[in-house]
Amino acid sequence: MNTLLQKLQDAQNSQELEAFRIEGLGKKGIITQKFSELKSLEGEEKKNLAKELNEIKQKFEAIYWAKKSQFQINELKTALLEEKIDVSLFQSISHRSIGHPISYTKDRIIDYFMHLDYELCVGPLVEDDFHNFSALNLPDFHPARDMQDTFYFKDSMLLRTHTSPVQIRTMETQTPPIKMICPGATFRRDYDLTHTPMFHQVEGLVVDKGDKASFANLKYTLEDFLKYIFGNVKIRFRSSFFPFTEPSAEVDISCVFCQGNGCRICSHTGWLEVLGCGVVDEYVFEAVGYKNVSGYAFGMGIERLAMLTCGVNDLRSFFETDLRVLEQF
Ligand code: PHE
Repeated sequence: MNTLLQKLQDAQNSQELEAFRIEGLGKKGIITQKFSELKSLEGEEKKNLAKELNEIKQKFEAIYWAKKSQFQINELKTALLEEKIDVSLFQSISHRSIGHPISYTKDRIIDYFMHLDYELCVGPLVEDDFHNFSALNLPDFHPARDMQDTFYFKDSMLLRTHTSPVQIRTMETQTPPIKMICPGATFRRDYDLTHTPMFHQVEGLVVDKGDKASFANLKYTLEDFLKYIFGNVKIRFRSSFFPFTEPSAEVDISCVFCQGNGCRICSHTGWLEVLGCGVVDEYVFEAVGYKNVSGYAFGMGIERLAMLTCGVNDLRSFFETDLRVLEQF
């Protein structure tokens, strides 16, 4: 019995301790067996042995619990030391992703304009005809509605075909001066190598009193923005048409794949279109009840910028949720 108590006292770890506990107090343990011998005894003899056994049992348990808690503390300490994470350890950057190229590009665009104090605005994806079309100088019969294949619901509700309705909603609820951008999903009935039915745009709008907001401001802003996104590229403004801006322009950058020499991606023109923009049409201001103001607006496709900056040539790969694609960024 005493050797068992000594063994317990000398146990080196929880496993040994547990083995000795079973040896003493397990179902077939030495102490347990001695207790069962009590049945066959009587009188003084029984009393004395019972007392003795209970004392041993108490000693045994006291040693057991003292040792057990000591081992638990030590084991916890070593586990904490072994599993410690060294946050200063160098980790190869190639295993980390920038996130989805579309969110990454969107965040970069937002970052740029937030630094210039533009307000971040949002609007509904399900729009009414007024905000998506009429207020933007696209009345019912207007042929430009064909440019934007629309998903319609009942009662002239629709999935917004561009982020421009957010311009209208912002002007309806605020007074000039306004400086806002609105990133978000947009929808058109289109599906091929360069079009998906859902895509993302960022809209920008600046409105100021009198004639303070000019095409010159617009041009400077967009040139600086495109240099921020694409680095050292050539930029050109090409006259174009949007019903809600006059004059309107499309903005091209020199092809980032061939540096403007001409390749398949830029259809051998050396230029890539990246933005639409213009001076806000007087009719749009009339629709929201603004007088004596000037403004400019611009809109861009986030997927297009993401394809050009991340070197992706099939738009659909953005939406296939294939981790192997994302791991490359
Ligand atoms: N809404 C236009 C489009 O979807 C882009 C644009 C926005 C053009 C603002 C001019 C001004 O193509």
